[in-house]
Amino acid sequence: MPKPLNIGMIGYGFMGRAHSNAYHKVNHFFDLQLQPVLKAVCARDAAKARAFADTWGYESVEPDWRKLIERKDIDVIDICTPNNLHREIALAAAQAGKMILCEKPLAMNSKEGAEMAAAVEKAGVANMVWYNYRRVPAVTLAKNLIDEGRLGRIFHYRAVFLQDWTISTDLPQGGLALWRLDVAAAGSGVTGDLLAHCIDTALWLNGGIDRVTAMTETFVQERKHNLTGKVEPVGIDDACAFLARFKNGSLATFESTRYARGHKALYTFEINGEKGSIQWDLHDLHRLSYFDHRDEGRLRGWRSIHITDGDHPYMSKWWVPGLQIGYEHSFVHQVADFLNGLANNQPASPTFRDALETQKVCDAVLESGRTAQWVEVG
Ligand SMILES: NC(=O)c1ccc[n+]([C@@H]2O[C@H](COP(=O)([O-])OP(=O)(O)OC[C@H]3O[C@@H](n4cnc5c(N)ncnc54)[C@H](O)[C@@H]3O)[C@@H](O)[C@H]2O)c1
Repeated sequence: MPKPLNIGMIGYGFMGRAHSNAYHKVNHFFDLQLQPVLKAVCARDAAKARAFADTWGYESVEPDWRKLIERKDIDVIDICTPNNLHREIALAAAQAGKMILCEKPLAMNSKEGAEMAAAVEKAGVANMVWYNYRRVPAVTLAKNLIDEGRLGRIFHYRAVFLQDWTISTDLPQGGLALWRLDVAAAGSGVTGDLLAHCIDTALWLNGGIDRVTAMTETFVQERKHNLTGKVEPVGIDDACAFLARFKNGSLATFESTRYARGHKALYTFEINGEKGSIQWDLHDLHRLSYFDHRDEGRLRGWRSIHITDGDHPYMSKWWVPGLQIGYEHSFVHQVADFLNGLANNQPASPTFRDALETQKVCDAVLESGRTAQWVEVG
C-alpha cells in the first residue's frame, strides 16, 4: 500500500483544478510508493472553497493560508495563487518544514526567486515548479532525441506562444479574474506568463542562455482597475519578442503576444541541428515532427510521430498504442515524477533552483525591453 502524502492546496482556480485532477489520477496509472491525500484547500471565500472541496474531495477548508501552513497534518503546500503571493507563501512554508510545489513563474522577479530557492535549500524541503510542458510525452521525447545526439550540433531554436484574449480596450485589469493584466499581481505580462514556459522548455532542451535583446509593447496603455474602479496605467507587456544566444552557440527567437487574433494558446517550438530538426505544436501535443538528414535521400522528409506507443515517454502507463492523451496528463506525469523523486531521494525537476534560471532570463528580457540594449542573463 502506498503511504499517504497530505496535500494542502492554496488557490482553487484553473491550476487548482489541474493539480487536483492530477492528484486524483496519479495512483490509478502509476505504481508509486506514495499517494497524495487531498487534506485541505485554502481560499478566502468560504462558500466557494467548500463547494470546490466537495467537488474535488478535499477533506477540509482553510480560509487563511498561514493557518494551513501551521497545520501538522499537511506535508506538501501546493501554491496555485497569482504570482505576487508565491514568495511569501513559499518562504513561510519552507520555514515550517513543508515540501513545496509552486506554480510558475517561480516569482515576480529573480531577486524573489533567489530568496525562495535559498529558503527551500536551507530548510532541506523537497520542491518543484509546475513547468508542466516538460512532461508532455512528445516534449520529453524531444529531450531524449537531443540528448542522444540525433540533432547533432544545434544551430537554431525558435519558439512562439500566441493568444488573443486581451485585444478589447474595454477589458478591465486586476481582481480575481484579471490579475494577469495587473502588474502588481502578475509581475509582468506575456514574458512571465507565456514566455516563461517557452524559456523553461528551451533551457531544458538546449541548455543555458547567455544574452538577450528584446522588444516589448503595451498596446492598451490604460484600463479600468477592478479593485479601485479607476482607469489606471497598464504596467504589463502585452507582447514581447526577443533574440537570444545560447551558451552552446545556437541562436534563438522567441515571440509571445495576447494580440494575435485567432490564436488561443499556440505554443510551438522548432529546433534545427546539423543532423536533424524537431518541431512541436501544443495544438497537436501528441505528435512530434522529426526530420533526420541521415535518412536515405529519396525517402527523406518530415515524419509526424504519433506519440502513443508503449516505448514513448510515460505512454506505457496509459491506454493502448494509437490512443492519445492530452494537456491534463502533463500534470499527472509531474506529480508521478515528484512522488518517485521523494521515494528515491532524487529531486524532481524543475526545482526552485532550476526555475530561477528561467526567472533570470525573464528579467533580462524585460530589462532589454526597457533599455533597447543586449542584456547578459543573470
Ligand atoms: N503551469 C501552467 O501551465 C499554468 C497555467 C495557468 C496558470 N499557471 C500559474 O498558476 C498560478 C495560478 O493561476 P490560475 O490560472 O490558476 O489563476 P486563477 O485566477 O484561476 O486562480 C487563482 C486562485 O488563487 C486564489 N487566491 C488569490 N489570492 C489568494 C489568497 N490571498 N489566499 C488564498 N487564495 C488566493 C484565487 O481565489 C483563485 O482561486 C499563477 O502563478 C499562474 O501563472 C500555470
